[in-house]
Amino acid sequence: MSDRLRRLVVGRLESLERAGVLQLPRPAKPGSNKSSESLAEQSPSREEFKSPTLEMLQQEVASCTRCDELARTRTQTVFGVGSPKARLCFLGEAPGADEDRQGEPFVGRAGQLLTKIIEACHMKREDVYILNMLKCRPPGNRNPLPHELANCRRYLERQLELIQPEFICCLGAVAAQNLLETTVPIGKLRGKVHAYRGAKVVCTYHPAYLLRNPAAKRDTWEDMKFLMREMGVEL
Ligand code: URA
Ligand code: URA
Repeated sequence: MSDRLRRLVVGRLESLERAGVLQLPRPAKPGSNKSSESLAEQSPSREEFKSPTLEMLQQEVASCTRCDELARTRTQTVFGVGSPKARLCFLGEAPGADEDRQGEPFVGRAGQLLTKIIEACHMKREDVYILNMLKCRPPGNRNPLPHELANCRRYLERQLELIQPEFICCLGAVAAQNLLETTVPIGKLRGKVHAYRGAKVVCTYHPAYLLRNPAAKRDTWEDMKFLMREMGVEL
């Protein structure tokens, strides 16, 4: 077994152990006479088994080494923050320097603006859930690379499966286009309700973009009013 694979397997097993999983289901033997259906009934599905709780998924992410460069350069992974029962998730792009240092998404300048936006909607950060497409900081805050987004996608999907938000607000083009698997520009994705699995998705500008282009804050405020109307929240 290669060193890298060994580290990956040991890391995964250790994180499962920390989360209380002391036994693994035996894989089906080729040629076993049990049908795959009866096996499926007996053991949790692969996905459920991988990380049945957000805490376990967070541990799994913390030991991830799928992206060589990101795993080498990060201070820590940045999983997500807020209520695991939130109706609404805010989805950003990737951690920046402040987030990498503190281990929490949206805590730098853009994050402070996001907090203000959330509060302008009569909510608190603790009422929603905040997460990013990528759980690691890209060096120098470059844009996430396609293979990094692909490597991290299952974590995001499983995180959203566990939270089951009714609404997802995508912040900026990277989050919106990747979640919705489209190349439509962010300006054209605004103002409509899109779908991601069972959730309603709305898109707005990234708070870092709003810091550079304050005139666009009016548009984001329109987007938030649209979202609040969809959620049945009075402003
Ligand atoms: N920008 C993002 O997209 N996410 C963060 O967590 C911080 C800045
Ligand atoms: N372009 C982006 O990538 N994001 C924004 O939020 C706005 C323009």
